[in-house]
Amino acid sequence: MSTVDPGFEVKTCAELAEQPEEYQNAVRKIVVSHAINELYGAQVFDEPAIALAPTPYAKWLTCRVAMEEYGHHVRFRDLGLEMGIPAEEMTPDRKRPLSIFDYPMKSWADFCVIKLLADLAEIIQVEDLSRCTFLPLRNLARMTMPEEMFHAEFGEKFTAEMCRSEEGKAEIQKSIDHYFPYLPAFFGRSGSKNNEIFRKWGIKMRKNEEMRADYLERAKAITAKFGLTLPDLPEAA
Ligand SMILES: [Fe+2]
Ligand SMILES: [Fe+2]
Repeated sequence: MSTVDPGFEVKTCAELAEQPEEYQNAVRKIVVSHAINELYGAQVFDEPAIALAPTPYAKWLTCRVAMEEYGHHVRFRDLGLEMGIPAEEMTPDRKRPLSIFDYPMKSWADFCVIKLLADLAEIIQVEDLSRCTFLPLRNLARMTMPEEMFHAEFGEKFTAEMCRSEEGKAEIQKSIDHYFPYLPAFFGRSGSKNNEIFRKWGIKMRKNEEMRADYLERAKAITAKFGLTLPDLPEAA
């Protein structure tokens, strides 16, 4: 597989339109999938979590998280529009969102775990994009990163708070057992053809399986901090 020159960079949407079809399609795929998943996540997890938050302080911070997740959708969508992607292609009713969204959030513990572990998966994806060859996407990823870090810290802080009681810790463990098995699939299939194209063009830096391995290690470390465990997984997809 040949890769682009180290200096290859596409600075604007106008320049993007002059790139080979394969490059344009690859960038489009990434922007559409982020626009959809950020919106769907905000609708099914972050906004409803405001009602589940136990204190005014937790509600305030959850509002901020929800605002930022909607904001991420808006940013990706705006970039997509500038690239000429029709708005209706960037909503969840158009394309099936990630499978984790199929499992309804029932408790505050569920939300803490989603922020702790699902946003960690998002951070790993955004880390890769913040070095990509399409400058507007790189800038967007860099702008998004501090907010995703805040979401993961939010998850960590409220998980720690719940783990202070045996009862709360058991609830968190139950949520981990429930949600964690869906998360490794977030990185896509091992040996993926799409990923090969992303890497060829410097849109992504790592293989799906490499990102997944990094994720599993970081997820394990963060849950171990609280004496929590990750459930055994069936062989990663
Ligand atoms: Fe986000
Ligand atoms: Fe987030």
